[in-house]
Amino acid sequence: MTSSVFNGAENLALIRGITPKGLGFLGSDLQGRHFSKVSLISSTRISKARTLTPKCSLSAPRPASQPRFIQHKKEAFWFYRFLSIVYDHVINPGHWTEDMRDEALEPADLSDRNTIVVDVGGGTGFTTLGIVKHVDAKNVTILDQSPHQLAKAKQKEPLKDCKIVEGDAEDLPFPTDYADRYVSAGSIEYWPDPQRGIKEAYRVLKLEGKACLIGPVHPTFWLSRFFADVWMLFPKEEEYIEWFQKAGFKDVQLKRIGPKWYRGVRRHGLIMGCSVTGVKPASGDSPLQLGPKAEDVSKPANPFVFFLRFILGAMAATYYVLVPIYMWLKDQIVPKGRPI
Ligand SMILES: C[S@@+](CC[C@H](N)C(=O)[O-])C[C@H]1O[C@@H](n2cnc3c(N)ncnc32)[C@H](O)[C@@H]1O
Repeated sequence: MTSSVFNGAENLALIRGITPKGLGFLGSDLQGRHFSKVSLISSTRISKARTLTPKCSLSAPRPASQPRFIQHKKEAFWFYRFLSIVYDHVINPGHWTEDMRDEALEPADLSDRNTIVVDVGGGTGFTTLGIVKHVDAKNVTILDQSPHQLAKAKQKEPLKDCKIVEGDAEDLPFPTDYADRYVSAGSIEYWPDPQRGIKEAYRVLKLEGKACLIGPVHPTFWLSRFFADVWMLFPKEEEYIEWFQKAGFKDVQLKRIGPKWYRGVRRHGLIMGCSVTGVKPASGDSPLQLGPKAEDVSKPANPFVFFLRFILGAMAATYYVLVPIYMWLKDQIVPKGRPI
């Protein structure tokens, strides 16, 4: 345990070494307490770090390889063709609850009703429901590549004034310097090129606008890591920070989130495991230069490759339907206050 804490501390020190300016961590022990980067990186406060730093992706080795099976636009499109039927009833209760959503959106600073917000990969509008608590729905645009997911959002009464747009997170149909807030929850894991999506977040924001990206964290337990890596992208925390900083964001912060009944356990990874925010320091496009987009959902895919990826990825995804149930059972059985 001590060594894993030290590993985490070393990794954090490394991240700071890469990009020393504007990096901060808002960790959460899942009861709303926050800890600063100092408590994570200071070797003189290791006992505090041990209490507050859940086992997480920080020390996980993950080869930087090709996209996972459903981390492709066409495969993700078809995955949501079917998942959209049960999404709100199956995915949200196990992985993305209302209290997690509100905690994850808190760093987005949605305090002004006139704020222009884009919710990218907004799907059935579950996160948008959290946004419109603070912002007038007419100022909010929900974008998704899945018409099936968006059809569910259209049925929700509080979202009836939102603009609903079909589009690609890696090529947003909004002008440069358009929005005050960019929110994206649980979508980055399907983007073949996450850096490109974050660069787009930067572009569409106004000067001093804020991006809030909520996404998975990588598991450290071997079986969970196996299924995660077959299914989709579960980035490491430091990867999020690096993508944000490369895109040009300042004041990059990462807040850990997770279902209450996990009691802070992160070794199985989390589909919604962190909320990363960054502020746009200058108007215009991101300083980062990238080549052309690798994938276009409207272009035909090799049917054999598509089918293989789709079946294997969807099978691996079912493991993550079971994990929150397993954790819930453990939470019921193990006496409160004891680790699970
Ligand atoms: C897990 S759902 C999250 C939905 C919603 N944000 C929420 O909080 O419930 C992921 C969504 O990302 C969308 N998505 C995946 N890849 C995308 C892309 N390249 N561009 C736009 N949306 C994408 C999917 O269609 C799906 O609706």
